[in-house]
Amino acid sequence: MGSEVRTLNVAVVGGGLVGALVTCFLAKRGHRVNLYEYRPDIRVENSRGVSIDLALSARGREALRAIDLEDLVINHHGIAMKGRMIHLKDGSLKEIIYDSVNKNCIYSVNRTYLNQILLSAAEKYENVTIFFNHKLLDADLDTGALKFIHMQTDEISNVESDLIIGADGAYSLIRRLMIKKPRFNCNQAYIDHGYVEVSYPIGKDNKYIMSGNHLHIWPRGNFMMIALPNDDYTFTGNLFAPFKTLEALNTPENLLEFFRQEFPDGLRLIGEEKLVKDFFQTSPKTLLSIQCKPYHFGSKALIIGDAAHAMVPFYAQGMNAGFEDVLLLDKLMEIHNDNLEKVLPHFSEIRCDDCYAICDLAMYNYVEMRELVTKKAFIFRKYIDTVLQWLFPKNWIPLYSTVTFSRMRYRDCISNKAWQDKVSLNLTNFDSIALQY
Ligand SMILES: Cc1cc2nc3c(=O)[nH]c(=O)nc-3n(C[C@H](O)[C@H](O)[C@H](O)COP(=O)(O)OP(=O)(O)OC[C@H]3O[C@@H](n4cnc5c(N)ncnc54)[C@H](O)[C@@H]3O)c2cc1C
Ligand SMILES: *[C@@H]1O[C@H](CO)[C@@H](O)[C@H](O)[C@H]1NC(C)=O
Ligand SMILES: *[C@@H]1O[C@H](CO)[C@@H](O)[C@H](O)[C@H]1NC(C)=O
Ligand SMILES: *[C@@H]1O[C@H](CO)[C@@H](O)[C@H](O)[C@H]1NC(C)=O
Repeated sequence: MGSEVRTLNVAVVGGGLVGALVTCFLAKRGHRVNLYEYRPDIRVENSRGVSIDLALSARGREALRAIDLEDLVINHHGIAMKGRMIHLKDGSLKEIIYDSVNKNCIYSVNRTYLNQILLSAAEKYENVTIFFNHKLLDADLDTGALKFIHMQTDEISNVESDLIIGADGAYSLIRRLMIKKPRFNCNQAYIDHGYVEVSYPIGKDNKYIMSGNHLHIWPRGNFMMIALPNDDYTFTGNLFAPFKTLEALNTPENLLEFFRQEFPDGLRLIGEEKLVKDFFQTSPKTLLSIQCKPYHFGSKALIIGDAAHAMVPFYAQGMNAGFEDVLLLDKLMEIHNDNLEKVLPHFSEIRCDDCYAICDLAMYNYVEMRELVTKKAFIFRKYIDTVLQWLFPKNWIPLYSTVTFSRMRYRDCISNKAWQDKVSLNLTNFDSIALQY
């Protein structure tokens, strides 16, 4: 006991949401952290353009709370979304509350803004240095050596570290270097669907043009559109569809005809001119799912966030899961006294299976969102879930709630659901819940 904790010299690669967050946590533990980011400082110039807000929920919130940022993000810049607002083809609306028992909400937050405040929070720690415009070229996972190129001067720098954290996103170079090592498993899959961004203008009198407290969904079977409220009273939406469908929308006429058929109310709100202008600004983007095991190599390298487990966005858990990685890493460093030989394998042991699970759930939820939400059986199951949760609040927590409003391990969320499916199948065979309980 009382063994002296060594100050580690950590190199974090990637200054996105997860890289900036892990820098805060490691610095808070007293380590020296150098953060390397390929892009320029987004607080000065934001080259990323618009992007849809992120839905922040329990796992992400708990991580922000630990570094005293939750209040700022949620109360000052988050927009509470209490449920889904389903837009049917005929323009009628159907509300599905996420959690009518405990009234939990998810929060729409601006990605750029969140990244900016995390970078500023990281920089406040005495022993943090951020290097922008630094692109990782190569790393030696055995020794912790890294090689960067400066994006403006082409200058090469070689640095040493005790620990490399790869928070370099879905196309992670650190992950690609790990794959070359033996006994490293990794599946990468693009889905056949892509997405295009659309934006909704501010409504009359600086109000939202549709409810500002819902995540809007236009489910259409094989494809769907969603929209999240921004804090400037606009909405940003995504049209998710098979590439075949998206590629057919290659002229303004085709696009408008498609919207008239499928999303007449959306088209009215956006306006024809604006839709055409926004839609053709970028080409459809791809969606990637990554499942690997383990997440570490030796005692010198670890991948977290999208680098370790990029997922399709349909459970709104990518960032939340990445933030939870940081909570777990911090906890294990506490348990093992910052001994990396113990921390890193333990991290993989706990985390890999859980992230396999959430990647699978995210894939499943695409089907739920674009298809099932309109089906009677789904609505009925939701009703059963609500009644049972109300009767047995401690023992019956629906899948969506365990994933979004709790920190139940993702793997256990699935087994919990499997058990509930059996029980509710039984219930639908009897007529009455009272017969069983
Ligand atoms: C359409 C869409 C909607 C989403 N909605 C949600 C949501 O509602 N809720 C949610 O929780 N998640 C959501 N996600 C997922 C979320 O965006 C990601 O999980 C999250 O951004 C991952 O953060 P990260 O820091 O791991 O990776 P990134 O944000 O990708 O950051 C990686 C960083 O590493 C840098 N980098 C890369 N390579 C190098 C290199 N060689 N050298 C130096 N730097 C490098 C990049 O420039 C980047 O800044 C969504 C994703 C998409 C695509
Ligand atoms: C910063 O690093 C120095 C040198 O390693 C150390 O003495 C100091 O305590 C560190 N500061 C913090 C706040 O951890
Ligand atoms: C998101 O935040 C950035 C940086 O603070 C800002 O420039 C941008 O306008 C915001 N976007 C929206 C839609 O509010
Ligand atoms: C469902 O009902 C069957 C037959 O009544 C019973 O054997 C089984 O244990 C029940 N399953 C659950 C999970 O309650």
